[in-house]
Amino acid sequence: MVNDYEKEKVLAAQEAVKYIEDGMVVGVGSGTTIVYFIKYLGERVKNGLNVIAVPTSDETADLCKNEGITLVTTSVPIKIDVTVDGADQFDMKLRLIKGGGGALLREKIVASATKREIIIVDSRKKVDVLGEAFALPVEVIPLAWFKVAQEIKKLNGNPVLRLKSDSSYFITDQGNYILDCKFDSIPEPEELATKLSSITGLVEHGLFINLAREVIMGKEGNVYYFKH
Ligand code: 5RP
Repeated sequence: MVNDYEKEKVLAAQEAVKYIEDGMVVGVGSGTTIVYFIKYLGERVKNGLNVIAVPTSDETADLCKNEGITLVTTSVPIKIDVTVDGADQFDMKLRLIKGGGGALLREKIVASATKREIIIVDSRKKVDVLGEAFALPVEVIPLAWFKVAQEIKKLNGNPVLRLKSDSSYFITDQGNYILDCKFDSIPEPEELATKLSSITGLVEHGLFINLAREVIMGKEGNVYYFKH
C-alpha cells in the first residue's frame, strides 16, 4: 500500500518528467523520490525519447541502466540542460539541505553544471527555516573527520559521524565520511555555507544555495510549484 507521502513523490516525479525533451543532457539526482522519476523517464525512453543522463550516485547509475537510459559516467559534462533531484528541506528562497542519502558532492557538482535545476519533493520538505528538524550533512575526508567535527562545533553545530545499520562507517561513493551536523536552526545559510567551505578537510556541505530554479512539491493529490 502506497502512503500519502509516496503518492506526493509520485506526483512530483510525474510532473518533472514532462520537462525532459528529446536530445537533452539530463542530470539525475538521488534518493527515494528520484527512484520514481527514473521509472517515468525510463518509460519515455522505451517510447523513443533520446536523452543522455548524468547520474549523481552509483545507485542512480544502476537504476538508470536497468531502465535502458544512456549514461555519462566518466566526467560531468560542462552543460547539463535539466537536472531533476530531491531535497531534504527547502525554504521559500529555494535554499536547500541535501545529502540525506549521502550523494551531496556529486549532486552539487551536477547542479552547478546545470541550466535548470528542478527539485521534486513531498510536502514534508517545505520549511520556514532550514535546519530545525534536519541535521545538515557534510562530506569529509576520513583522515580529517575528527578535526572537521571540532571546527563545526565552534560554529554551534553538533556533528555526528554517520554509521550504517550494522554500525560500520557510512562511506560515500567518493570514499569519504559524512558528518550529520545538527544546528538549532540555520537562519543565515549563506553565512554558514561560507564558513563551512573554509574548513580544510571538509569536502562539501549539503547547503545548496542559488542552485535550484524551481521546486515541484506533491501535496494531498495536487502539485505545487515554487520558483525563484
Ligand atoms: C541524497 C539527497 C536526496 O535528494 C535527499 O536526501 C532526498 O531524498 P528522498 O527523496 O529520499 O527524500 O540529497 O544525497
